[in-house]
Amino acid sequence: MKNKLLAALWTAALGSTSVWAQGMWFPHEVAGRKADMKAVGMKMSTSAIYSSEGGGLNESVVHFGGFCTGEVISSKGLVLTNHHCGYDAIQSHSSIEDNLLEHGFWAKSYAEEKPNPGLFVDFVLRTEDVTLAVQSLIAKGQEPGEAMKDVAAAQPKPDASWIHNVKPIFAGNRYVLTSARRYPDVRLVGAPPSAVGKYGSDTDNWVWPRHTGDFSLFRVYTAPDGSPAEYSSSNVPMNVAKPLAISLRGVEEGDFTLIYGFPGRTDSYMPVSEVQQQLKTMLPTRVAMRHEVLRTWDSAMRVDPMVKIQYASKYASVANGWKKWIGQIEGMAEVSGVDTLAAREARVAAFSPQGLAVIQRFGEQNDALMDARWTALYYQELIPRWELATWSRLTSAYLKAVAMGDNLDKPRAALRELYKDWNPELDRRAAQRLIAAWNANSEVEHAESDLLSFTDPKVSGSVPALPADGASWEAFDAAAKSHPALGLSANLREEYSALMGELSAAETEYQSGMKDWMAVQLAYAASTNKQIAADANSTLRVAYGRAGGFSPTDGMRYTTHTTADGVLAKYRPGDYEFDLPEAYRTKLEAKDYGPYTLSNGELPVCFLAANHTSGGNSGSPAFNDRGELIGLNFDRVWEGTMSDFYFTPQRCRNIMVDIRYVLWVVDRYAGADRLIQEMNIVR
Ligand code: ARG
Ligand code: GLU
Repeated sequence: MKNKLLAALWTAALGSTSVWAQGMWFPHEVAGRKADMKAVGMKMSTSAIYSSEGGGLNESVVHFGGFCTGEVISSKGLVLTNHHCGYDAIQSHSSIEDNLLEHGFWAKSYAEEKPNPGLFVDFVLRTEDVTLAVQSLIAKGQEPGEAMKDVAAAQPKPDASWIHNVKPIFAGNRYVLTSARRYPDVRLVGAPPSAVGKYGSDTDNWVWPRHTGDFSLFRVYTAPDGSPAEYSSSNVPMNVAKPLAISLRGVEEGDFTLIYGFPGRTDSYMPVSEVQQQLKTMLPTRVAMRHEVLRTWDSAMRVDPMVKIQYASKYASVANGWKKWIGQIEGMAEVSGVDTLAAREARVAAFSPQGLAVIQRFGEQNDALMDARWTALYYQELIPRWELATWSRLTSAYLKAVAMGDNLDKPRAALRELYKDWNPELDRRAAQRLIAAWNANSEVEHAESDLLSFTDPKVSGSVPALPADGASWEAFDAAAKSHPALGLSANLREEYSALMGELSAAETEYQSGMKDWMAVQLAYAASTNKQIAADANSTLRVAYGRAGGFSPTDGMRYTTHTTADGVLAKYRPGDYEFDLPEAYRTKLEAKDYGPYTLSNGELPVCFLAANHTSGGNSGSPAFNDRGELIGLNFDRVWEGTMSDFYFTPQRCRNIMVDIRYVLWVVDRYAGADRLIQEMNIVR
């Protein structure tokens, strides 16, 4: 009784800005959010967003290749996603003679649209809480993993395209089913030049003000009868009964916005002792190690154009996490986020006796696990970066295939892929610095083997070259077999898995504590009549919040939109991040904006809103209060990246490309009239 009263008082005191006010909601939970969504300004019915009967916006949202989000924007299956999501596909169709990345690409007919083997989109048509079904199997003695599989397997499967998946949420206190259909024929339709789609590149990544036209276009194809099918020349563009409406009205500061997509991971309920471990040790160590790699690569990329080409994409992906984590560490400090989380934790823990006990245990466990986790992190940052270790792994696999008399096409292709973008001397220097950085920082005993001996120039300098196309591999095989680095990967992996083996029992115990702790948090939330959202886990979610900027620091304010003038202001001829093709600049300078303007006549480029998003939300549609498409999510502001631990609408913003900029590029720059024609554009 006393606890309930206390909880009620806290809720009243915190109001709707409590640390639990935001979240990523499952489609089937949206109906329960109606009052809050209306209060933020939503004008549509919640069944327009999702209904178990069908007909919701979810039917236009796709999991793009399993790593990004996309949306269907025409009656002919046209899919909009980010440029950085379509990047690999665009790159795979690019060559020196026909460089789609550099020049952009606009298919002039269906026949010119380019197939992408392996690429698929999933439409999530149903989500449902199946906690009771899973728990009843567990009660009968099944392991949770088996129980989840069985519940998924019991769902109707009208044809092979259906994929049912049951995942745990709230640390295994509940379970959710998602039912999707997979379409495996997805073709490239259009992309702006990289200069536009990646404008600002790493310098502007995670940054506002932003001027990136981060979009690309694909199309879903089906069998002639409309069913999902593998690529075939007889496939036809997907026929969409109810295509999204695309609005030219845009949004102003304070307006309702909604994001639909597939965020990958958040840690909103992490024990504070672990959050502190992340912020004080794990993330700074990752940042320091990546810093070494990035500065090594950067100095070589600046002087050698070949290295620039080889390492640009690797650089972007290593820098992406590096910059985000720096933002998280600083952002949490700036808003005293740990204090806020600690206050919440104390409140919730006091709610039940188990709560206090489990929180105290977490503190001790996190201390005890610290060294081993830290050491594991060293391997996690080193193994994927060190290309000599990748060489060792691929070469061992290849030599094994040789010995077994297996088909050698795939292992050989994998080696060619590695060699294409590998500079062994640069890789050696990066590895040397990584290992040195670790040794300097760590008080922890690590690798038994002397890893530094593998960074001897004699080792990297003697890696055998690959034979020319069609030539014999004999010399390579012989040299590889006796190369000192051949065993490197196996060594590293063995050490790493031994370490993980030691850790595993302790981590399992930690996770079972997490389940108890989450149960307390759920009970607390229920006692305050508060619905709380599960952490992201790559399932379809809805986030909503108001459009608008914020004040990142005293005396300064970010506006809601950026405009084309800002694109031109950042232009730096010859710079690899801020150059623009002349034809593009000329078009922008002509200010022929057509119907795609803000009310002041400017061409909008990007805009901000306080939606809770994360990695995986790239390519997510942004909708207005009526469910019309107004933008394309692609990033968050650096100051608010701590939203993965602690979301606050004061500071956390997602960044979207304004749909009017997308349309201006497609229409006025590319002149791709046939694409504009098939869209349902409303005023
Ligand atoms: N920060 C965005 C995301 O996390 C964009 C990344 C791609 N762009 C880049 N410059 N690396 O995916
Ligand atoms: N760029 C991210 C992605 O690829 C989205 C940004 C974020 O982490 O919020 O999913």
